[in-house]
Amino acid sequence: MGNVFVLDHPLIQHKITHIRKTETGTKDFRELVDEVAGLMAYEITRDLPVTEVTIDTPVTTMQSNVLSGKRIGIVPILRAGLGMVEGVLRHIPTAKVGHVGLYRDPETLQPVEYYIKMPNDIEERELIVVDPMLATGGSAKDAIDSLKKRGATKIKLMCLIAAPEGIDLIKKEHPDVDLYLAAIDEKLNEKGYIVPGLGDAGDRLYGTK
Ligand code: PRP
Ligand code: URA
Repeated sequence: MGNVFVLDHPLIQHKITHIRKTETGTKDFRELVDEVAGLMAYEITRDLPVTEVTIDTPVTTMQSNVLSGKRIGIVPILRAGLGMVEGVLRHIPTAKVGHVGLYRDPETLQPVEYYIKMPNDIEERELIVVDPMLATGGSAKDAIDSLKKRGATKIKLMCLIAAPEGIDLIKKEHPDVDLYLAAIDEKLNEKGYIVPGLGDAGDRLYGTK
């Protein structure tokens, strides 16, 4: 069964508070999302395998750890997931980036896929799907379906804020996927927005409405 990790580090919680605030403008919102994604990347990669190598320091020879060549893929769900990519890449600069384009139909709240482009060795990579918001969970569920259909077997999902409904859907439909969150909120409102949430993540990141 997939695990749910809430990354309640004080630095993450502090930045999430500012991200939520109505008065936080596009520039600060974008920078904060990037920073939180970077901090979360640190925790989400905690289980990456390492190998011991022999190195020379100026003083002596020693055994020391390096990453053992695990192939990582970062998969933002467009649009809002794009805001988290650079923060993760800063820590894993050799990762490949795949894109899944999905939007929620505002009437039905059902996700509609309009774009997908993945690295061609997707089945060999550990994929980190990123999206700031996990609301009904429909977008993340469909994105993960698409990745699995293309051969992905190791997938983690990283979101800033989740509603209980979204968490339940991912646990039910993708029990093998570990979920990394900065906050779990109370509920969804009648329009499918997370309460208290932060509003529309894509619009706040890109200054649209
Ligand atoms: C938002 C968000 C998620 C989705 C979450 O995207 O970034 O992808 O909604 O909702 P769900 O869990 O109910 O599916 P949106 O559809 O607004 O598209 P955008 O990122 O292009 O603004
Ligand atoms: N998508 C968002 O951007 N915000 C929400 O609260 C729910 C879905």
